[in-house]
Amino acid sequence: MSEKLTSVTLQALKGQRKITSVTAYDYFSARMAEAAEIDFILVGDSMGMVLQGHKDTLKVEVPHMIYHSSAVRRGAPKTYLVTDMPWMSFHISVAETLKNASRLIKDGAAEAVKIEGGIKRQVMIEACVNAEIPVMAHIGLTPQSINTLGGFKIQKEKQRLIEDAKAVEAAGAFAVVLESIPSDIAGEITDMLSIPTIGIGAGVNCDGQILVWHDLLGINDKHLPFFVKKYSNFYETGVEALKEYAKEVKNKEFPEQVHSYSDLKFRKNTL
Ligand code: KIV
Repeated sequence: MSEKLTSVTLQALKGQRKITSVTAYDYFSARMAEAAEIDFILVGDSMGMVLQGHKDTLKVEVPHMIYHSSAVRRGAPKTYLVTDMPWMSFHISVAETLKNASRLIKDGAAEAVKIEGGIKRQVMIEACVNAEIPVMAHIGLTPQSINTLGGFKIQKEKQRLIEDAKAVEAAGAFAVVLESIPSDIAGEITDMLSIPTIGIGAGVNCDGQILVWHDLLGINDKHLPFFVKKYSNFYETGVEALKEYAKEVKNKEFPEQVHSYSDLKFRKNTL
């Protein structure tokens, strides 16, 4: 395993090589991400959709983020960990923002927080950075803005995107997620900024890529955006395994002697 990244070394990867990231929400997925030497894990508020089954991310609360972030940390102690600030945890005041961000660091064991929004969030990003909390920004399609954006839609207003990107860089963000942006605009923003851009649905010109765990591994069997590539088919494999298990239980083929405590000739007296 290569050396653990920091916000400084992650930023320095810009122009050197592409940066890799996935979301993760629990101990074993974090172990897998670390075993795969992914550069950084995001405990995303996408958990509202892929873990909790909601239609959007708006119901996620700070205690959910802390609970999952600390589990991910236990599974991936050597991987740089960014945890999302959920909706309304950084909108009310600077004091609330700092209280919530610091809980994600202290109790959630994250090394940085992610904040959705560009110019509108400049003050909150700056406040976190001044309090020594590294911030990853997130512009373009910001899922927490679903009700004002009018849906999960590609964002192509170039001037606004550029202004948002410059604003989060000026506020001190060490990286920025670009979501659902045409690849030529994402490329221009990437060239313009000194901080890395991490794309999701923003094409090949970004400095790095991130995908949602359940989408990339095919745990999510529902309709996926066209920009997702499924690298596995865990949903189907899992359903097949469960059917096989149920069949064997019904047919009394499982458990066998080797899975039974009673027959100690197959097992020592331990698990
Ligand atoms: O919540 C999330 O998983 C995210 C990524 C899609 C970037 O914000």
